[in-house]
Amino acid sequence: MKLAVLGTGIVGQTLSGKLAELGHEVTLGTRDVGKVFANKATDQYGRAPFSAWHDHHQEIHVATFSDAAASAEIIVNATNGMASMNALEHAGHANMKNKILLDVSNPLDFSHGMPPSLWVSNTNSLGEQIQRAFPDTKVVKSLNTVNAGLMVSPSLVPGDHNLFLSGNDASSKQKVRELLVSFGWKDKNIIDLGDITTARGTEQLLPLWVRLMGTLQHPYFNFHIVVGNPPKG
Ligand SMILES: NC(=O)c1ccc[n+]([C@@H]2O[C@H](COP(=O)([O-])OP(=O)(O)OC[C@H]3O[C@@H](n4cnc5c(N)ncnc54)[C@H](OP(=O)(O)O)[C@@H]3O)[C@@H](O)[C@H]2O)c1
Repeated sequence: MKLAVLGTGIVGQTLSGKLAELGHEVTLGTRDVGKVFANKATDQYGRAPFSAWHDHHQEIHVATFSDAAASAEIIVNATNGMASMNALEHAGHANMKNKILLDVSNPLDFSHGMPPSLWVSNTNSLGEQIQRAFPDTKVVKSLNTVNAGLMVSPSLVPGDHNLFLSGNDASSKQKVRELLVSFGWKDKNIIDLGDITTARGTEQLLPLWVRLMGTLQHPYFNFHIVVGNPPKG
């Protein structure tokens, strides 16, 4: 399958690497191809620059957001949550029309320092904003509640633990579910929460996720929903 992953950060790299390993044709999207390759600095976490990662993943094409989206059947939004609306506008309405957009972004605002806050919440979510702005695109929110490594290697956390799906179109959610299963997620552990408004719930897990990360001092954990039996009578 042809997929575009919009975003050259750790999530874009991790997802595109896994998709290519699974035999898909992947194009990574960025604002400026020349600029992303010209950057030779390590990032704030000491990670190697994009160009060093790409040296080991030359089968992955790199293009502008617009060209990447145009080339794909399924598009992944792995851009910074503060900038996703802007990035998707660059990807272009026509290039995303009638396509699935797997949205893994979170509306985290780091501008006031740590911990980040959510710039949209409660009665709205980033997933819904994207769906409203791109009504002809089938937005499916998922993977935003786990760390990048865990997205494609769920066994990094032992036992059963959950992922969530939010979206208005049942067949698009089914396609995303199949993709997640191909990453190693157990079908029974993927919970369909309902329409795209349910993205409010998963995006609002992030304040808890960030604090768990602070307490545990690493990101290899996940939520496991344990379902009981309602009391009778
Ligand atoms: N890190 C995780 O483990 C994790 C887990 C779950 C969800 N997420 C979510 O996944 C998304 C990606 O996270 P990340 O850590 O990989 O990368 P990130 O640093 O949050 O985002 C990098 C991407 O955002 C684009 N971008 C930044 N500012 C932009 C602007 N003003 N206009 C257009 N595009 C812009 C960059 O474009 P260029 O390529 O042009 O620089 C780059 O492709 C985020 O929404 C994050 O909340 C992250």
